[in-house]
Amino acid sequence: MTKKRILTGDTPTGKLHLGHYVGTLENRVKLQDEYETFIILADTHALTTLNLDYSSIAGNTREVLLDNLSVGLDPGKVSFFVESQVPEIYELAAIFSMYVGFNRAMRNPTIKDEIKMKNLGDQYSLGFINYPIYQAADILCVRADLVPVGRDQEAHLEQTREIAKTFNTIKSGLFPEPEALFGRVAKLVGTDGSPKMSKSLGNTIYLSDSSEEVKKKVTGMYTDPNRIHGDEPGNVENNPVFAYLRAFGGEKNEERIKNYEDRYRKGTVKDSEVKEFLIEVLEEFLVPIREKRKEFEAQPELIDKILKEGTAKAREEAQKTLEAVKKAMKMDYFKK
Ligand code: TRP
Repeated sequence: MTKKRILTGDTPTGKLHLGHYVGTLENRVKLQDEYETFIILADTHALTTLNLDYSSIAGNTREVLLDNLSVGLDPGKVSFFVESQVPEIYELAAIFSMYVGFNRAMRNPTIKDEIKMKNLGDQYSLGFINYPIYQAADILCVRADLVPVGRDQEAHLEQTREIAKTFNTIKSGLFPEPEALFGRVAKLVGTDGSPKMSKSLGNTIYLSDSSEEVKKKVTGMYTDPNRIHGDEPGNVENNPVFAYLRAFGGEKNEERIKNYEDRYRKGTVKDSEVKEFLIEVLEEFLVPIREKRKEFEAQPELIDKILKEGTAKAREEAQKTLEAVKKAMKMDYFKK
């Protein structure tokens, strides 16, 4: 039996952080044997915010690939590819965009959120409004069944399914209607206590951070602002230090975390002691990731090879898909 397919990916605007790990990377690693997996480095998406400087994107693409490899994705099983090197995606997106209402595109809740969060006002590109349609092309070009992503991508998956359905009315079974798979933590808070860990907010811990960086970031972390001294009862629920302990402590630390939570609520443990514990937990999580990263960093030819082979494989699939779409649309009349 052929395996079902996963397609997911990242926009290479910067390095990946702990939020990406619990949102999507963890599921990618878990499912890489069960599914035939494609991971896109969506470099065109990185241009969406009227930031037309491509020069930093090549370096970021490499970093994001290293992030993926360092958490345990096996390049022998997974195909990594670069969006701009699969031009069939653009062609598919151009065709898709003819079937999406302008008002429907403007109603995408994630687009609306991003406009608000990044204070874009009316200063955004046509490509920015269009990027969920490109994302649908990313997903549908390999006819993926499942898309492990963070919750913020839900709206894009909904739009992708709508497009798949539209084309399935032209020819039944042309596309699967891909489902989103969300991570075990809906949204990881930032080190500053704001609801989302995000590069643009400067509240991240990166997978590639050194021990010193992690230590410094955790030491400076927001906790319970109403608790001035360690002998006062504190709030555990909206406290990012405890959120990270629960997210990264694993089963083996469950008892210990509970014990710290009880003591924090009673006011018998200082912030600094809980932070020491968090540093220990994050170090244990990050040490093997750093080691893997180093292994791959030392092999630049291997990195090139991974991208080259993955891109060739994705392109072959995208060509098949585009051909099937054109045939279904009777757009294949032109004789070469
Ligand atoms: N938009 C996604 C993000 O910001 C990245 C992405 C691009 C993606 N293309 C994709 C995710 C296709 C899943 C499937 O995280």
